[in-house]
Amino acid sequence: MDKLVIEGGHTLEGEIYVSGAKNSAVAILPATLLTEETCIIKNLPSIKDVYYINNILLQLGAEVEESGCKFIINSLGVDTYEVDFELSKKLRASYYFVGALLGRFKKARVPFPGGCDIGIRPIDQHIKGFEALGARIKIEHGIIWAEADELIGTSIFLDVVSVGATINIMLAACLAKGTTVIENAAKEPYIVDTANFLNAMGANIKGAGTDEIKIKGVERLGGCEHCIIPDQMEAGTFMIAAAASRGNVLVKNVIPTHLDSISAKMREMGIKVIENGDSLQVVSNGRPRSANIKTMPYPGFPTDLQQPMSVLLSIAEGTAIVTESIYDGRFKHVDELRRMGAKINVEGRVAIIEGIKKLSGAPVCATDLRAGAAMVIAGLTAEGETVINNLTHIDRGYEKLEEKLLQIGAKLKRIP
Ligand code: EPZ
Repeated sequence: MDKLVIEGGHTLEGEIYVSGAKNSAVAILPATLLTEETCIIKNLPSIKDVYYINNILLQLGAEVEESGCKFIINSLGVDTYEVDFELSKKLRASYYFVGALLGRFKKARVPFPGGCDIGIRPIDQHIKGFEALGARIKIEHGIIWAEADELIGTSIFLDVVSVGATINIMLAACLAKGTTVIENAAKEPYIVDTANFLNAMGANIKGAGTDEIKIKGVERLGGCEHCIIPDQMEAGTFMIAAAASRGNVLVKNVIPTHLDSISAKMREMGIKVIENGDSLQVVSNGRPRSANIKTMPYPGFPTDLQQPMSVLLSIAEGTAIVTESIYDGRFKHVDELRRMGAKINVEGRVAIIEGIKKLSGAPVCATDLRAGAAMVIAGLTAEGETVINNLTHIDRGYEKLEEKLLQIGAKLKRIP
């Protein structure tokens, strides 16, 4: 189990590059199953979750040629609709193979997904969508069985704003007969990115990025080329790290509007965030002021940055109220931050963070992906040395994290 040893107290300065978006990549790669022609996907992040999805494509019989951050995929040879149990439980996004295989074969057999332990993560809205399209769903021995004589377009109102369900229904509806309308749809940039990819394949999707998405079924989809959008969560993590280290960092290769909620919150805390083109300059202004956070679906403050932001709030001036309205178990980083001296009280889905001057380095654990990112930020800003055990979560979602941070003045090293 790899460890990360961080020497805290160094100001981060310089330029840092953002990679392709994990949550776009893990949706778009399964979507390539919807055509027998070749798809070229560029700007893929080299992270474990992309590797896990790629393993499932290979297991199904697809041909994948990797060259750097580009995959050339052809799934003509895919001859099964059954996903391997071990591969499926490696990550949450394996559920996209239900929508993709249903769309391709009108059949799918996908073991329940895995993913971060951040609270209960049902897939009832995915199933509601598939059944509305005419699929019969059976859940047996931890496996999702889906089958349809044919998929017929219909109107689906999501009870919960769900990124996964929105994308999964889009995947199944592309080749359905007639028009599907997803109402109360999620609006995250990954949804727009996936819809753009599907439309480049010949799909007819309108309204992605709004709460009503219209998918007109087409006869067939073809191959295409697509470049994954930058990862707003990686970008936000770097922005928060820059501010926590009282540094001055240019975060490059971003789409600033995707980060509006983080930029606005940081400005509210007295941190300078300057937009120019495809980069954001974060300039610390001394100790930040505290502010309240309430996580909401996009364009609200993202739940995936609640944990990293909690670190910045734990060393801010004042007391913050952090409300995690998306998940009921996304405070596992709090115990680890307490080891470093943070003053945080958790009541259900609310954390009260009383800012202190400095965290102190300590041996800590990364309990899930974004908690891991939070611990890295805490180690960078703390007094003394922090050792983060178990980097598997961090490696699932952050490409070359150490190399990127070393380039802007961090002092850290990975110990195998
Ligand atoms: C996606 O997860 C992301 N993962 C998560 O990022 C992100 O936190 C989440 O969206 C919210 O933005 C991927 O895209 C692979 P949801 P997803 O369906 O699709 C409830 C990371 O750190 N819900 O939008 O699983 C659910 O319990 C990861 O990169 C249902 O009730 O999230 C949650 O409370 C962590 N029924 C809320 O909706 C359902 O059928 C939002 O979940 C589906 C979801």
